[in-house]
Amino acid sequence: MRIIARFILLFVSLHATAENGHQLWLRAKNVRPVQLVCTRSSETLNLAKEELRSGWLGEANASVTLTVKPDKAVKGDGFRLSKNEIQANTETGILYGVYELLRCQQTGQSVDEKVSNPSYERRILNHWDNPDGTIERGYAGLSIFWRKGDEAFAVTEADKRLWTEYARANASVGINGAVLNNVNASLDVLSAKTLGRVKAIAAILRPYGIKTYLSVKFSSPSMIGGLKSSDPLDPKVVQWWTTKTKEIYRLIPDFGGFLVKANSEGQPGPQDYGRTRADGANMLADALNPFGGIVMWRAFVYSASEEDRAKQATTEFLPLDGQFRDNVIIQVKNGPIDFQPREPFSPLFGAMKKSNVMPELQITQEYLGQSVHLVFLSTMWEEFLQSDTYQEGAGSTVARCTDGSIFRSKHTAIAGVANIGLDANWCGHPFAQANWYAFGRLAWNNMLSSKQVADEWIRLTFGNGGSSAYSEEWVSNFLNPVRQMMLESHEVTVNYMMPLGLHHIFAANEHYGPGPWWAPQGTRKDWTPPYYHQADTLGIGFDRTLTGSNAVSQYHEPLSTQYADVKSCPEIYLLWFHHLPWEYRMKSGKSLWDELCYHYDAGLQDVRRFEKVWSSMQTYVDKERFEQVQSKLREQSANAQIWKDACLLYFQQFSRRPIPNDIERPVYELDKLLIMKMQTN
Ligand code: GCU
Repeated sequence: MRIIARFILLFVSLHATAENGHQLWLRAKNVRPVQLVCTRSSETLNLAKEELRSGWLGEANASVTLTVKPDKAVKGDGFRLSKNEIQANTETGILYGVYELLRCQQTGQSVDEKVSNPSYERRILNHWDNPDGTIERGYAGLSIFWRKGDEAFAVTEADKRLWTEYARANASVGINGAVLNNVNASLDVLSAKTLGRVKAIAAILRPYGIKTYLSVKFSSPSMIGGLKSSDPLDPKVVQWWTTKTKEIYRLIPDFGGFLVKANSEGQPGPQDYGRTRADGANMLADALNPFGGIVMWRAFVYSASEEDRAKQATTEFLPLDGQFRDNVIIQVKNGPIDFQPREPFSPLFGAMKKSNVMPELQITQEYLGQSVHLVFLSTMWEEFLQSDTYQEGAGSTVARCTDGSIFRSKHTAIAGVANIGLDANWCGHPFAQANWYAFGRLAWNNMLSSKQVADEWIRLTFGNGGSSAYSEEWVSNFLNPVRQMMLESHEVTVNYMMPLGLHHIFAANEHYGPGPWWAPQGTRKDWTPPYYHQADTLGIGFDRTLTGSNAVSQYHEPLSTQYADVKSCPEIYLLWFHHLPWEYRMKSGKSLWDELCYHYDAGLQDVRRFEKVWSSMQTYVDKERFEQVQSKLREQSANAQIWKDACLLYFQQFSRRPIPNDIERPVYELDKLLIMKMQTN
């Protein structure tokens, strides 16, 4: 009996220490006592104090003063920080200052005196969660907010605990908003029961400085409000939204506002009533305005028209510039098509000079290997944010066009489509947590380098805490190679999926495996890969120059000319803008076909190299995360092989050229690949 009890105890303690990744980057160790001086008390300040007490790695018994007082140099929820003092205009600012101080300590950086202000006023996660708990493009389990069944609306202690952990993780990187439901919004979202649950979530998120928002369906007045129409200019419709908005604010006084996907991919919108997008957005904005709420109106629009999909959003939205209320923000995806592995920036950035414009990034890896492939997205976002639009002269980067530096926007914001679910480690892949982290850090400071972000994240997630814990040996044998792998990972993925500007060549609607051939009869052309790669015996690529769709004309000079001229077009965007012959000479001197082959092969070889890098990390990582990443890399490398073989063998039918001899031969046959369904485990 006693032996059994001992076994149970052993099992329990082993289980308790099993590393499941749930703690994310918040793992303070070797904490020391600290004295706090703070004359005020509130829920938020108490959290700030608690964080300092449970995470302080500075001098033992040092004293830290927290002061809320106005300071002209400090903007919004920014803060002034020194070794022993944090000062801010707001309590949330104090909390952010605490997290920054602790981050410096935990990553072994010195705490320099500084003022830190957020790049964007609103730093928001968009959850594509449905009321039944499923998540559109979610790869880490069901929703942390919603579930189906009898207990769907009961707020349990476990819910509250999870939401608190979620709020804390967000606040630790400066995220201050959460849209709680899918942009393809369910009508149920505005029901009394759902709003009751939103109120409960908001109560947990509030002390951490996080506002809640909802995605709404434009046709709600007619679908659930008993009205004949949802025409935004109909006074009854206006009244319906006004009343609904009041109801929401009665429950949630600091409610953030609405996110709207309208007249897009079958969603209803103002155009159904012959009204403009501005009419629709402004009507909602007017309902929210008395309460300080905002409308985030998405520019992700395209129809089954003949016009190049990459052009449509700009064609539709640019003429409306200046017509939106100042509490409307136009939410624009980073690229003009749809979160592809690589896209040039959307030409709407910097072009809409009289409207608030916010970037929408995708943290969930819909088109980048989902929760199987290791892809650190920060480098892709950095490339996007630092892209020069030239709209107000050289240096008009997307970052500066959207953060209020160039245009005097009433509101500034940035959104990221969340990769969070009920999986113990939140994001599915241990390294996908780095993308949540990176989104928050870049939203706070859009000038941060990906190198710094990766460095911090690795130290916090895998380190032992505090400068003394990072031995030279650890830095050179673990931190440096893992950071290097993260920084290369996006380019590597682009190489084995869609190099040289190729895009949208996925099989079917899962957006996971390759399918350059995928075009079932009756499917809309612009939902099929051949529309995007345009491969034929003459060449490959989408002609977006004057001889083609002329999408280049939507960019400001000198970009327009640079992209249009094949000689000056960056090779990373070559086949995005040009249809070129297979024998076209690349900068390397190789033919386009050979270059394509080398890119696909390099991608595959690099993933195999990553497998080796990670395999040598066993001594530095707990067994669970080590093995999980190892197994995912194994799958990623098998997938990269399929990507390479599928794309090269398929395109070879058109190029009719051999795969260069020094490249490893494909291992699959094309006819098998055509029927193979590559799925995540
Ligand atoms: C992509 C994605 C959809 C999503 C849409 C959007 O097309 O595949 O699932 O609804 O983007 O952003 O609205």
